Amino acid sequence: MLFRSILQIIKEKPLFSRLPAGVEVRMSQGDRIREAPPGFAVLAATAGTPIAAVGDDQRRLYGVQFHPGVFRTAAGFTILQSFLYGPCDCRPSWTPQSFIDRTIAGIKEEVGDGRVLCALSGGVDSAVSAVLAHRAIGSQLTCVFVDHGLLRKNEAAEVQRVFAEKFRLNLIVVDAAERFLNRLRGVVDPEEKRRVVGEEFIRVFEEEARKLGKIDFLLQGTLYPDVIESMAGNGQSVKVKSHHNVGGLPADLQFKLLEPLRLLFKDEVRVVGKELGIPDEVVWRQPFPGPGLAVRVIGEVTPERLALLREADSIVNQEITAAGWSRKLWQSFAILTGEKSTGMAGDQRTYESVLVLRAVTSEDAMTADWAKLPYELLDRIARRVIAEVPGVNRVVYDITAKPPGTIEWE
Ligand code: XMP
Repeated sequence: MLFRSILQIIKEKPLFSRLPAGVEVRMSQGDRIREAPPGFAVLAATAGTPIAAVGDDQRRLYGVQFHPGVFRTAAGFTILQSFLYGPCDCRPSWTPQSFIDRTIAGIKEEVGDGRVLCALSGGVDSAVSAVLAHRAIGSQLTCVFVDHGLLRKNEAAEVQRVFAEKFRLNLIVVDAAERFLNRLRGVVDPEEKRRVVGEEFIRVFEEEARKLGKIDFLLQGTLYPDVIESMAGNGQSVKVKSHHNVGGLPADLQFKLLEPLRLLFKDEVRVVGKELGIPDEVVWRQPFPGPGLAVRVIGEVTPERLALLREADSIVNQEITAAGWSRKLWQSFAILTGEKSTGMAGDQRTYESVLVLRAVTSEDAMTADWAKLPYELLDRIARRVIAEVPGVNRVVYDITAKPPGTIEWE
């Protein structure tokens, strides 16, 4: 448990010179330093802690007994900045452009005249990786986009337009919708859906890779949190992304990995993407699960049910975007339940599907809250979906947080 304390600054330099008086920090209660180690001076105290920060300017060693990294410590950022620019002698030279320049040079050197393959998903991570690599090595990069037929409305066409037409990437779009749908026939268990989609994805990708001949590198949009998670051996996170990581390729297809974004966080990737001229729709795209709409059609995935969900989802998307909510939400989407309900159309009784609207806010998908969307927006979405999507006569809003719920329904 962290408690608020007021920092009493005893020596300003080098950590506390840019702080206002009476700055608040968060400390663990019960921990107490009795005496500064030899060579260290006491730099700050709080009411209950006579030694809250120590420093040895000679050896450039500093210690604080509070938590400058916690979000609610407003001064934490300034303290860390003073530490980095002062004793550590760091310079704030990271800019999107300097990152782009360094990364392009790095890819050129690493790849040489080798060939690189990229599984483009349409999401921001693989998009930014691909555009960076393309800038570095041009036609030595081939991107494969597998259209598994479980995408949202216009998604495949959008990928084609942005990456093949605008950026002139070497892009192979594989229309594999029929294969995936055939394999999903009769499958209702969510984990089985994931397994089938993951396995088929690898098969399709592998076939394309073989057609291309010798490939030296596989380009991946791995981010820093992915690196940390896989180091920690966190089974679930690794599993969530497993089929995007193309982890299950056969042993004779050996590539070296190229991961230009492995030291970045998502917000940095977005800034780099913008600098590279990638359109906002891609840079700000909400996360989308690898198995796509298959886990949002509850029960069996059929072409008709997919088409219905796709239309409804597109209306949700249009209205959320028009109302300026899209970027404020982690995800917003529709789910087609297996339930039917009674309704009315004119003087006719109807008996049609129930559609769920889900919109959540989140920092990292580990926890999430349902979004407090305005009633008018919910109203517009429900009215439009029922009027424009045949087969749906009721829309409900999911008000479950995660935990105890999950973001997806399957
Ligand atoms: P849940 O539903 O577990 O989702 O709260 C957390 C985040 O992960 C996404 N998700 C997936 N992503 N393959 C993926 O690539 C999957 O099988 C999968 N399942 C869930 C989900 O959209 C949310 O952002």
